[in-house]
Amino acid sequence: MSKQRIGILGGTFDPIHSGHLRMGISVLESGCLDRLLVLPSGRPPHKSCGAPAEDRWKMVVAACACDERLVPSRLEMDRPGKIYTYDTLTAIRRQFPDAELFYVIGADTVLQLRSWYRSEDVLPLCTFLVCPRQDSSEPDEYKSELKKLSSRGGKFRTVPMESVSVSSTEIRSALALGKIPENLPVPVREYCRCKGLYGLSGKLEGIDSWLDRLFAALKPGRFAHSLSVALTAVKLASLYGEDPLRAEQAGLLHDCAKYYPLEDMCRIAKEHSLTDDPAFLGSSALLHSLIGAQVAQDEYGMHDPAVLDAIRYHNTGCPGMSRLAMCVCLADSIEPLRRSYPLLDEVRSLSEKSLERALLLSLEGTAKYVKSRGRYLHPRTKNTIRWLRSQVGSE
Ligand SMILES: [Fe+2]
Ligand SMILES: [Fe+2]
Repeated sequence: MSKQRIGILGGTFDPIHSGHLRMGISVLESGCLDRLLVLPSGRPPHKSCGAPAEDRWKMVVAACACDERLVPSRLEMDRPGKIYTYDTLTAIRRQFPDAELFYVIGADTVLQLRSWYRSEDVLPLCTFLVCPRQDSSEPDEYKSELKKLSSRGGKFRTVPMESVSVSSTEIRSALALGKIPENLPVPVREYCRCKGLYGLSGKLEGIDSWLDRLFAALKPGRFAHSLSVALTAVKLASLYGEDPLRAEQAGLLHDCAKYYPLEDMCRIAKEHSLTDDPAFLGSSALLHSLIGAQVAQDEYGMHDPAVLDAIRYHNTGCPGMSRLAMCVCLADSIEPLRRSYPLLDEVRSLSEKSLERALLLSLEGTAKYVKSRGRYLHPRTKNTIRWLRSQVGSE
């Protein structure tokens, strides 16, 4: 069996941005690696950080959910004291004794390598994957340093990639001015927004414990999805004159019960007399919305009826549903991380023109898909479609 090829991408990730992701994915696409460990540092030796380590960690996890080959690791975060690359590499070597290790660096780091702690011992531990400078130039100084390091046993491989002109410093400055840069991955944008990181205003009340709870309750992809739904719901609510704050709250919490085992969901449904519909009680895909509204109330302290309704109807919709609930239901189906489905582009473009029509098209698409698979479509969705058609007809 061939050796596992593991890459390591370290950094403060303060915050992780699209440049980091593009770099990671380019390295993976170059075919040198099976997976890439993404290691946020806990307390970097030379830098002071803008966001607490646990926030940087959650943002890394949410951002890396876009590709299963990107594997966040707490190795550097959880080590006390100063951590050097030598320590990291030896720890990973112990963890994966048979793997081939690759360490990702920028071309400019090559010039600093000899000043690293125990640099002579670092060289044999890995192959360095070098990301080219932004202007793709290789100054003489760089070439001669590479030669020196190679003669001491250093192994280097340049990874082709498109230039990435984005830095965490620029991003932090933009955030401090209240702007949310496009080159932040969508879940990270919402994470910074709702937590009021890097000087952003508008931190949601109670968000610290909400995010801790959601992070523990959801798989990384679902956590990222929830952040992305929240951001999309805010946009829709702003566009259609609904309350963005409520949309954001409902977006964040809409899937909070998604991973409850079905028997726990049924117990909660019974305890609170939520439904006796056997279709709901037999399907966590249906039931998680009703249970989500209950859990949002009991565990997250959310008592706003409008927000709870938006959570309650986010999957099936409901005849007579509020426009806030429509924003959340639609956001769930068009958020930027959504895997593509046949009508997605049309629903997205319609979402900018008519809330009702876009939601109708989205639910009709769901109905068609469910039917084509010979699966059961709940009457509530059918009734919502009928109701939306009547609404749209009367526009
Ligand atoms: Fe859901
Ligand atoms: Fe969802």
